[in-house]
Amino acid sequence: MLNIPVTDTNNTLNTSNNFVLTSQPPNNQTPMMPTPNQNSPDNQIPVAEYFLLNYKQKLGSGAFGQIYYGTLDTSLPNISHINGGNPTEVAIKLEPFGAKHPQLFYESKIYMTLENGIGIPKLYWCGTQGNYNILVIDLLGPSLEDLFNFCERKFTLKTSILIVDQMIARIEFVHSKNFIHRDIKPDNFLIGRKNKKNTIYVIDFGLAKRYKDPRTNMHIPYRDGKSLTGTARFASINTHLGIEQSRRDDLESIAYVLMYFLRGGLPWQGVKAKVLNEKYNKINEIKIQTSIESLCEGFPKEIQTFMHYIRDLRFDDKPDYNYLRKILRDIADQYNIEFDHNYDWTQKTKNYSFNKDKM
Ligand SMILES: Nc1ncnc2c1ncn2[C@@H]1O[C@H](COP(=O)(O)OP(=O)(O)O)[C@@H](O)[C@H]1O
Ligand SMILES: [Mg+2]
Repeated sequence: MLNIPVTDTNNTLNTSNNFVLTSQPPNNQTPMMPTPNQNSPDNQIPVAEYFLLNYKQKLGSGAFGQIYYGTLDTSLPNISHINGGNPTEVAIKLEPFGAKHPQLFYESKIYMTLENGIGIPKLYWCGTQGNYNILVIDLLGPSLEDLFNFCERKFTLKTSILIVDQMIARIEFVHSKNFIHRDIKPDNFLIGRKNKKNTIYVIDFGLAKRYKDPRTNMHIPYRDGKSLTGTARFASINTHLGIEQSRRDDLESIAYVLMYFLRGGLPWQGVKAKVLNEKYNKINEIKIQTSIESLCEGFPKEIQTFMHYIRDLRFDDKPDYNYLRKILRDIADQYNIEFDHNYDWTQKTKNYSFNKDKM
């Protein structure tokens, strides 16, 4: 099981060596990616048996690898088992083969467990090719962090509530399959594309952990002395304190995401310290010192109830997800907010193409 400390406040730890996708073996040492196919258009490399990776269209580079745009290679025979052989756009996640903390196969197993869930990208392929482990999933739209930037880093009460309502539903589903996510943050929630653009998807299960044995229903035991796993900015207080994470910690992170969107930031952002550990301790000090009342000041009182409920959950408690969503619905009623999928970005992005193919 991975147990990885974080290195930066809003970034998950980068444990892998930096690498570039290349069709040339550097110094003839590493096995090379397949060279561009003579028959395929420029910038495309056949990967994962059925797909073409466009190495000029990077979708993101996370802590553990890089993600590229790709398509199903419809010129191939025998592809009818993949989306009926129809043109399909995908995201291709690469991880260097032999990475210190390989996570892609683990991630693919979790996608299989979550298969067919609402807001879960479909997994098309996972395997090793050349010097990369490769994971192929549905292409999605921009992340909530991208959209937050797009909207000048403030979301209205309506947008924040609509988002968090979906985030709770996603995490409830993940929990129902016996996993906790452990890296809840706006970068790991992406909107869908085309007719799925109102659905918020959850991705990035590299740090996820099974918290319950599916056969015995036994919850993992309480432990402490653990190193910080996840992303400091959104980590729960107990995670900072080294306590084993459970369902409550995913929810506490969702609560911080809510306040991040509403306030335009969190009081523990921008903390500086010479050593990383010192920085994390300072962040947690501020988290502990900031009362729920002051964190939520200026926003509907019910949000305080929401946060208190989450902070009061015990280690192995099953959160009452419906109760939390009910609080959001009550706020919505009070402020005449309709769950109509009219987000702050909806009008603005109508004629806007996000990072080329992201929308
Ligand atoms: N299916 C996808 N469709 C579109 N963009 C994606 C997709 N998967 C990942 N990305 C982009 O790449 C970034 C990093 O992906 P992620 O799986 O979270 O990697 P890491 O584990 O390195 O954080 C995401 O925040 C997002 O911007
Ligand atoms: Mg990520």
